[in-house]
Amino acid sequence: MTGIRFENVWKFFEGSAVVTDLNLDVHAGEFIVLVGPSGCGKTTSLRMLAGLERPSHGRIFIEDRDVTDVPTGQRDISMVFQSYALYPNMNVYKNLAFGPRVRKEPKSTLQTRINDVADLLQIRHLLNRTPSALSGGQRQRVALGRALIREPRVFLMDEPLSNLDAALRVQMRAELIRLHHRLKETTTVYVTHDQVEALTMGDRVAVMKDGVLLQVDTANDLFEYPDSVFVGEFIGSPKMNVFEGTLMITGDGVVVDVLGVRADLTDYVAGRLIDGVSSGPVLVGVRPHDLFPASGGADESDRIPARVDISEHTGTEVFATMDVGETKAVARLPRALKPELGERIDLAFSRHAVHLFDASTKLSLLGRIRGRERVSVAQTTQVRPEVK
Ligand SMILES: Nc1ncnc2c1ncn2[C@@H]1O[C@H](COP(=O)(O)OP(=O)(O)OP(=O)(O)O)[C@@H](O)[C@H]1O
Ligand SMILES: [Mg+2]
Repeated sequence: MTGIRFENVWKFFEGSAVVTDLNLDVHAGEFIVLVGPSGCGKTTSLRMLAGLERPSHGRIFIEDRDVTDVPTGQRDISMVFQSYALYPNMNVYKNLAFGPRVRKEPKSTLQTRINDVADLLQIRHLLNRTPSALSGGQRQRVALGRALIREPRVFLMDEPLSNLDAALRVQMRAELIRLHHRLKETTTVYVTHDQVEALTMGDRVAVMKDGVLLQVDTANDLFEYPDSVFVGEFIGSPKMNVFEGTLMITGDGVVVDVLGVRADLTDYVAGRLIDGVSSGPVLVGVRPHDLFPASGGADESDRIPARVDISEHTGTEVFATMDVGETKAVARLPRALKPELGERIDLAFSRHAVHLFDASTKLSLLGRIRGRERVSVAQTTQVRPEVK
């Protein structure tokens, strides 16, 4: 059964499209994450799903029922708002109890349910305080608690962890996933602009940009098979290097000329090139993890002379911004190396980890491998119809 479906959904504000022809199927019971930069239309999409905004065009379905014209209260959804939307004159307990009371749910179990949710979110000691006496992170947990007190068919969460400190965020991430597994029937749409949150939490992740849904995939496939330069750069940290290069396809092989080396990719990408790709300028994506000091391994490119510009320690690794001729490249260096500013280090990249994109459309030139099968890349439509 379909949990949620957006069918050709558009939203215009003041004549400009902020959500453009959104088509998305979420399976029943799935945890899907909508991710994208600020202003890309995530909250607007969620508000349309909640019935707080009407689509300018298109239909929305929840569990195969067309809810486009169904009021919010009849959609069986629970939403955590980005802005918290707490009742300022009620204490935390009353904020949590408000929904169940309005819905006339049994009073006998209310206290226990509130305590359980408060324990889960570590706000039990705050039940008597009003929102004005809470920190941002505490308010955010109360907002989350108000949604979690129910067991709805659909959970909508708009950046519910953005104001928590790093440790609490990691802990709450795990709690929300655990909760989702417990509520097997509930479909969750979770909005974030944090790609780490998206990758760690989502069964699938939907990447949006400027109101357009670019790609929907599992975390692993998004990382491995980005359909576009944008997704390649947005997913993964530090972000993917994108270099200008030249692709040369001959009768017996595929070579890419990039960073001053000619890398023979025949064994790695020849079977994955989509139809119609010809020799010429391309964009070459290499993740920092796949660019490292040359050791002469079988899968490596030739040596690329580079010089350390800046190095950043992450604790387990060092990522260094390197000058390669006129180009900057971020590479992964071993922690033990302790690179000095200006130090010369020869780099190499893993040839199997190279991504190739069309230089003008910035869409991937590589299909993906599923089992032994080559699946062509869904070429994103960037067409924007006339403003209605
Ligand atoms: N009521 C409104 N009237 C006019 N423009 C709006 C309205 N609501 C949202 N917008 C615009 O629509 C675009 C999408 O906004 P939206 O809130 O959906 O973005 P978002 O992806 O949730 O961003 P963020 O990560 O900052 O929360 C933005 O450019 C925003 O300014
Ligand atoms: Mg938002």
